[in-house]
This record gives sequence, C-alpha cells and structure tokens, in this order.
Amino acid sequence: MIYLADTANIAEIKDLFNYYPMEGVTTNPTILSHEGKPLSKIVPEILECIGNKMIHIQTISDTSEDILKEAKKYRDIFGLKDNYYVKIPVTREGFRAIRLVKDAGMNVTATAIFTQPQAMIAANAGADFVAPYVNRLDNIVSHGIEVVSDIVKGIRLYGLPTRVLAASFKNVDQIYRVSLTGCHSVTASYDVLIALMSHPMTDRGVIDFEKDGAMLYDIPIS
Ligand code: E4P
Repeated sequence: MIYLADTANIAEIKDLFNYYPMEGVTTNPTILSHEGKPLSKIVPEILECIGNKMIHIQTISDTSEDILKEAKKYRDIFGLKDNYYVKIPVTREGFRAIRLVKDAGMNVTATAIFTQPQAMIAANAGADFVAPYVNRLDNIVSHGIEVVSDIVKGIRLYGLPTRVLAASFKNVDQIYRVSLTGCHSVTASYDVLIALMSHPMTDRGVIDFEKDGAMLYDIPIS
C-alpha cells in the first residue's frame, strides 16, 4: 500500500516528503480553500516540494467537454507530465469525462465515490485510481471499510488495472482497517498521517535506549 498526502499546506507537504515515504499529493477545492492561495500559486509550490511524485488535481467544470479543457489547461500551464492525475467526480458528466481525459493521454483519479458500482463503472471508463470516501461513508451510517473492500474485490475479480485510492479519513483505525482489505493506496491529512506513524511507546523506548546507552556507546560518530 502506498501513502499520499491529502493536503495543500506547503509546510505539511515539506515535512511529510522530507521524513516519510510519501508517493504523492491529492487536492480538492475544499483543501485548497484552507490555504487561501489560488491554484495558479499553490500548484507550483507543491510541485517544488514533491519532484516527480504524483499530484492529483480536481476539476470543477460541469460538462465533460469543459472537464477535458480544464485538465489540459492545468497540464499545459504547470508543465505536468506522467505524474499528473486529473481528479474527476463521478457525476454523469464525470463518467464521460474520464474517457475523454484518458483518450487525451492523461491519468485519471475518479473521486467522490460512495458505492462499489460507481467504482466499477469508473474503472471500466478507464480511471487509473478510484477514490472511495471512507469517513464520509461512516458518517452516513454506511461502512467505509466494507465499501473499500468490495471495490478491491471487484477490481481483482475482473482483473482490472485500476487501483483503489481510499480517501476521507478521520482516524488511524480507518486506515489500519483499509490496509487489511488489500487496498492499493490511501490519502490522508497531515494529522492523521503523523498519528499513523507515531506511538508514545516508541518515544518512551527511545528515551530509555538513550539513557541506557549513554555510558556504553564510546565510539565517536564524527
Ligand atoms: C481526497 O481525494 C478527498 O477529496 C478527500 O480525502 C475528502 O476528505 P474529507 O471527507 O475529509 O473532506
């Protein structure tokens, strides 16, 4: 399973990419709105931090033709290559746009997925990733983990090349449970990712190791 950062905050992205094995950044209009910077400014800043790792940029157009135009515009204006994923919500126009954007040679992440059938259809339309929203499902008394698991099974059963990018997490347990489904990738906020990779017992153990080793480790490292 690979991990992506669901944030457009530059300090968070720098920290995550400096210290942890991150494979990309996902954004959406809401995430961008938290940063108070327009797309034209924030995308180059993100690219500077992540090099050739994946960047997923969501489209906001209403029609499939405009989604295609929007996707091409970002590709051209930001000089994006193979690491660019056009995030397209799975509306009626979105399903059509997935095919158009793929035919134009770009990668697609089908997003705002709430059911297994939506994911299967998006996969058939050619999406490279499908992004089910785990916490939002949990919040409507559905079961995010089960939906992810069903999508993973469906994709495997039919041998589709699409990967599952589980999204919308509010706690570590959701990511842990998603990882047991065979899900290919997750994207999560800075706070959830940091919580996922930390444990107070680890910190406690390191304090004890440092104390116990202080008088014994007598070989200078420089
Ligand atoms: C990512 O691709 C999604 O846009 C995002 O994870 C949604 O998360 P939220 O439910 O926390 O807004």
